[in-house]
Amino acid sequence: MTKAIEFPPGAFRRMNEEDDHRFYAQPRRVVHIDDDAIAALRGLYAALVPAAATVLDLMASWRSHLPPSFTGIVIGLGMNRDEMRDNPQLAQGIVHDLNREPSLPFNDTAFDAALCAVSVQYLTRPVEVFREVARCLRPHAPFIVSFSNRCFPEKAVALWHAADDSQHGAIVTAYFAASAAFADVHQWAHTSPAGDPLYAVWASRAEDTR
Ligand SMILES: C[S@@+](CC[C@H](N)C(=O)[O-])C[C@H]1O[C@@H](n2cnc3c(N)ncnc32)[C@H](O)[C@@H]1O
Repeated sequence: MTKAIEFPPGAFRRMNEEDDHRFYAQPRRVVHIDDDAIAALRGLYAALVPAAATVLDLMASWRSHLPPSFTGIVIGLGMNRDEMRDNPQLAQGIVHDLNREPSLPFNDTAFDAALCAVSVQYLTRPVEVFREVARCLRPHAPFIVSFSNRCFPEKAVALWHAADDSQHGAIVTAYFAASAAFADVHQWAHTSPAGDPLYAVWASRAEDTR
């Protein structure tokens, strides 16, 4: 039997524990990573996401970073309706607080791929969310989680703050492992001397997630 992964006590506390709806009430339309990092993320998506896929953009805002060659359908789930309305790649944007309710409002195997860009550090119940993403993905479909070296500090979990860039990849890998619903975990890094680094961890939904 595999040993369950345990996270330290307090790992998912945050400096600002107020309702996430208050923090995200105002649309920010911020570009969280620079052009070079965005281009790298687009390239990664071009390589991993089938061009005509139905995609879940988890923790979505006003950009999904999919390449121009993408012709599929993107459903966004995030905290701010106005930001998602401004996202030209979203067919639909759903306001949903994953920290309050990790269950996703989608059918089993509804998506061919799922993305979570520069946001995983805000999840206080990541293992439940990763299990839910797996439920909503068809078998072998990828879940691509990317992150850089900055965040809204008050909303990032303590576990993230306690780690450096290289350890953040291990944290996301641990979320995949603890969910027991993914296989073939990959880690990837794009760094440039002057620009924002971009890291990604992705895995494929396991054949059997029970
Ligand atoms: C740094 S932004 C990244 C947005 C987008 N993924 C991108 O690449 O530009 C963080 C996003 O996480 C979403 N978010 C934060 N807390 C959330 C929560 N509790 N439930 C769902 N989404 C959340 C916010 O709506 C916000 O759009």
